[in-house]
Amino acid sequence: MVEDGGRVDMEWCIAQPKIELHAHLNGSIRDSTLLELAKDSREKGALAFSDVEHVIKKCTRSVMECFKLFDVIRTITTDHAALSRITKEVIEDFAADNVVYLELRTTPKKNEQIGMTKCSYMEAVLDGMRAIETVEVSFLPSCGSKEKLEQFPNTNVAINGEKRRKLYVRLLLSIDRCESAASAMETVQLAYKMRHLGVVGVDLSGNPLVGEWLTFLPALKWAKEYGLAITLHCGEVYNPNEIKAMLEFCPQRVGHACWFEQEDWTKLKSLNIPVEVCLSSNVQTCRVSSIRDHHFDYLYRNNLPLVLCTDDSGVFSTNLSREYYLAASTFGLNKAQMFELSRNAIKHVFADESVKILLNSIFDSAQRELAIAVGSGNS
Ligand code: IMP
Ligand code: ZN
Repeated sequence: MVEDGGRVDMEWCIAQPKIELHAHLNGSIRDSTLLELAKDSREKGALAFSDVEHVIKKCTRSVMECFKLFDVIRTITTDHAALSRITKEVIEDFAADNVVYLELRTTPKKNEQIGMTKCSYMEAVLDGMRAIETVEVSFLPSCGSKEKLEQFPNTNVAINGEKRRKLYVRLLLSIDRCESAASAMETVQLAYKMRHLGVVGVDLSGNPLVGEWLTFLPALKWAKEYGLAITLHCGEVYNPNEIKAMLEFCPQRVGHACWFEQEDWTKLKSLNIPVEVCLSSNVQTCRVSSIRDHHFDYLYRNNLPLVLCTDDSGVFSTNLSREYYLAASTFGLNKAQMFELSRNAIKHVFADESVKILLNSIFDSAQRELAIAVGSGNS
């Protein structure tokens, strides 16, 4: 047992199992893949590389520059083969970072020129998941319930004599704030149709300076009525009325919460809604002035439910271990507290109870292996 809870270093953050609940597929693209696809697009005449090179290569971006980069990414990734490749690589990268459960979100898009529909977009994402060989990916809802607990807590499973990491993946379909009400409805209905393929919920994201909450309310209400879980990007920019309306809607989780006022925190607490906290993303886009000033501190000290997440690991050059390390080193949390923070995320996953049981067993085993005394952190 580690008596003082143990000092956290980066190596330890990598070693502990982690749960990622807020990751945008195309925002998690590898730099090398982004540059390669951008060059391909230039060769096909779809993109003037010199116009976008500086946006791609920049390390720190304002909110507007981020969305400029997302526009570039959208231009170069919206074909089926690129999507499958990105999905495969992103999942491999999360597995390599010892993420044991990943909720990956993406905005289904249409591209008539290449015959892409929202449905075929999602098919390409699924193809990417099926193409993964180096990791055992469980993404079908039945996977959790059929698996026997005895197989766990080992997250490295032996297949054909080789040890592979195991990762549970569930999907969220995002509505982009620049979409119409009809397009948003199409997305949530697609999410509902894909429940048997690992889709567990819906997200509202996109440029927070664009679009009106009321446009998306009918689609989100429909999703709620049909049993899909909902997470909303909420309070990314100063918009008190929207924050209040979103909390009134009572989503299962919210992302960011950078511009909450005291009454919003009170409401959030009364509804017990967890916040998906994205430290690097919030600081790099200047929504929060520094990590030290981040509302993580307020949430953690007040025992409000929170989950550390990456948002866009490619765009913000991070990974989940790094986000844990940033939190531990900035706010002075020890190993026991970080481990408990990570384990607490299980309560907030959108997958069903059988997956939560399996995840708990993975954490039990990791706790023994890492020899951590827990019980002193946020719950
Ligand atoms: P995709 O949905 O897989 O294409 O992932 C990229 C998209 O996620 C972007 O084009 C945005 O619509 C959305 N997104 C990524 N990061 C953020 C964020 O910080 N705030 C709001 N939307 C975001
Ligand atoms: Zn996000």
